[in-house]
Amino acid sequence: MQIVNHGVQKELMQNMRNVAYEFFKLPIKEKDKYAMLSNDIHGYGHAYVVSEDQTLDWTDTLFLLIYPNRFRKLQFWPRTPLEFKEITEAYSSEVKRVGDELLSSLSVIMGLEKHVLVGLHKEVLQGLRVNYYPPCNTPEEVLGLSPHSDSSTITLLMQDDDVPGLEIRHEGNWVPVTPIPNALVVNVGDVIEIWSNGKYKSVEHRAVTNKNKRRTSYATFLFPRDDVEVEPFDHMIDAQNLKMYQKVRYGDYLRQSLKRKMEGKAHTDVAKIKELVIEE
Ligand code: OGA
Ligand code: NI
Repeated sequence: MQIVNHGVQKELMQNMRNVAYEFFKLPIKEKDKYAMLSNDIHGYGHAYVVSEDQTLDWTDTLFLLIYPNRFRKLQFWPRTPLEFKEITEAYSSEVKRVGDELLSSLSVIMGLEKHVLVGLHKEVLQGLRVNYYPPCNTPEEVLGLSPHSDSSTITLLMQDDDVPGLEIRHEGNWVPVTPIPNALVVNVGDVIEIWSNGKYKSVEHRAVTNKNKRRTSYATFLFPRDDVEVEPFDHMIDAQNLKMYQKVRYGDYLRQSLKRKMEGKAHTDVAKIKELVIEE
């Protein structure tokens, strides 16, 4: 879904876009000061590189863990432009407010008390991934971002207003998510899919490239702490809805999903119970 009237100031959204673009415009040498290390997700680089012969997606990425504060790795936060840190913090704190509200509503929708979902995270982790897609001469030959679902609980995504690119898989077709100015796109992630025993499925999506225009997107992921064990809620399982997912430790789940090339929803299969035994 896309949400509007979320209260995040449009000036702040624009400032976030400006500082991110200033960063991506820097020479590679400058950006490489924040280069991702292998086996780590923080910093500037190319996410999901798992083999040397893989066709890479047409994108550059900057990933930062924002909350809780003590998990930040400030050496990966751009120091150019100067306002990058301050604006990223202001933007992220506003998105956190919206995210908390969404988690409360989802809690109620899933038949729980308002604060239950947030509580189950132990601590809600918040990461920001800025995706930068340069224009591409042959947009039909390469994807901006391969099909995947987010391993988060939910994702809140800010898009550019004037350049489409995001698509979701709906009934076998790729459907563009046409930007609504200053809206936030909300994705259901894998954690909600598992907690709801598949009632609320994480959305499969991808990004396509554009021949003439660059595009940037800003994905805020909310997810549980590594040591949280995620499994379907008892109240979402019954004779008609057998338990579909086994218990997974979130940290293990996240790491295995980052290690594979993005292949649609292949990583959610890891959590699926392999053989359902139907008892008469
Ligand atoms: C992501 C993502 C989509 C986009 O970062 O997980 O799906 O529109 N981004 O760039
Ligand atoms: Ni995504």
